[in-house]
Amino acid sequence: MAEAFDQNLYRKACGRFATGITIATVLAPDGTPHGLTANSFTSVSMDPPIVLLCVDHKANVIHHFRAAPHFAINVLAAGQAALSNRFAERGQDRFDGVDWTPGQFGVPLLDGALAQFECETAQSIEAGDHTIFLGKVTATRYEEGSPLLYFASRYHTL
Ligand SMILES: Cc1cc2nc3c(=O)[nH]c(=O)nc-3n(C[C@H](O)[C@H](O)[C@H](O)COP(=O)(O)O)c2cc1C
Repeated sequence: MAEAFDQNLYRKACGRFATGITIATVLAPDGTPHGLTANSFTSVSMDPPIVLLCVDHKANVIHHFRAAPHFAINVLAAGQAALSNRFAERGQDRFDGVDWTPGQFGVPLLDGALAQFECETAQSIEAGDHTIFLGKVTATRYEEGSPLLYFASRYHTL
């Protein structure tokens, strides 16, 4: 009989892939901003410009991502670990005291981010317990600076 798949080992192995950290944001039709910390961001295509984000089906915010025609990716800078924690934890208004400006389509762009990608939701693909959102990039910008990194369940900087 085949051995049972080791979820814990899989999780730890995935964590050996060092990533940056983003906060993905959307605007609800009533004007309320929503967002979550996500390191599943990947650039997919240069021409046309397409990026992807994977959202856990258990995340409360997923229905906003399913419903919204646009989302934004805010790539975090080295000094933004507290912001990453805030957008990964429940039980508080994540945007309380957070400075942001609306992008082209009103989607929240967070102050101090290292880079930003405003996206039109092009496609969503169900993949196991996550949904992959493919976004066509409609606007982007970046600042010089150091990124916040994530490796083996901890924050790092360059
Ligand atoms: C460094 C880091 C990276 C994360 N990456 C993702 C991700 O790519 N996709 C995702 O769905 N959740 C990710 N999470 C977890 C979500 O941020 C968290 O489950 C979410 O904010 C839950 O909130 P909600 O249920 O209120 O939406 C990550 C958390 C951390 C700390």
